[in-house]
Parts: sequence; structure tokens; C-alpha cells
Amino acid sequence: MLSDITLSSNDFKKLHQYSGDWSGLSEKLFKHPLEASEKIQKFSSIHSKELQEVIECHHEMPDGSGFPRGLDHKRIPLLASIHIVARHFVEELMKVEFNHQKRFEIMDNLYKKFNKGHFKSGLFTIYEFLSMEKPE
Ligand SMILES: [Fe+2]
Repeated sequence: MLSDITLSSNDFKKLHQYSGDWSGLSEKLFKHPLEASEKIQKFSSIHSKELQEVIECHHEMPDGSGFPRGLDHKRIPLLASIHIVARHFVEELMKVEFNHQKRFEIMDNLYKKFNKGHFKSGLFTIYEFLSMEKPE
């Protein structure tokens, strides 16, 4: 994923051991959204303001508990919000065995966490997508 382009696989493993309390993160891990964005800006063929926002905000949370800037749902742009919800959905989905019912349980939990501002658009997009893929 472009947003983690500055991380090694070991960094990535360390990062995923944290959840909610970012106080123990190394500076490299804490700043990786901004450093990845800076790196991507050098590639003019793929760089855009929206991509920059997605990368810089990919660890932010609607209640302001994310990093690196601690932005809340009012300050996180639409596309970045959708990306954050989708990323959390995929991460939760990968923790369980494939099961259609689990997807809806995951979405119920995500709804409780992300039902704010632009994040609703991300949630509704995934809900819509899931209803198109109803199990037989
Ligand atoms: Fe990341």
C-alpha cells in the first residue's frame, strides 16, 4: 500500500501491535503517513491532492484519537474518510475466517466507531457493496 511505502515489513508488524494508544510508537512509525506522502509527491504521474490527503490521514480516527495529527471527523476529507473505513473493514475481515455473516457483524462494529461526518459515506459505500454480494 502506498500509504505505508516507507515502512519495512518489521515496522509494519510493530505498528499493528498498537491500537488506540500511540504513545509508544517510534518517531518513524508515528511520522510514516507524512513521510510516505512526501515521497509520493515526487511522482507527478500519480500525485494528487486527494491521494496526498488519503496517505496523510490513513491512521486518523473520527474521534481525533489517531495520528499523526489527531484530526477529528470534521477535519478529515471525504476520500480519506472512505479509505480509513475501508481499511479498517479489510483489517477486521482478515482476522476472521471467511464468513458472510461475519462481514455484517464487522460492519455493525465499524458503524459504532465511524458513524460521524464523512465517515458515514465510507460506511454506506461498503454497506451498499455488501448488499450487492448477498450470500446464496
Ligand atoms: Fe500506515
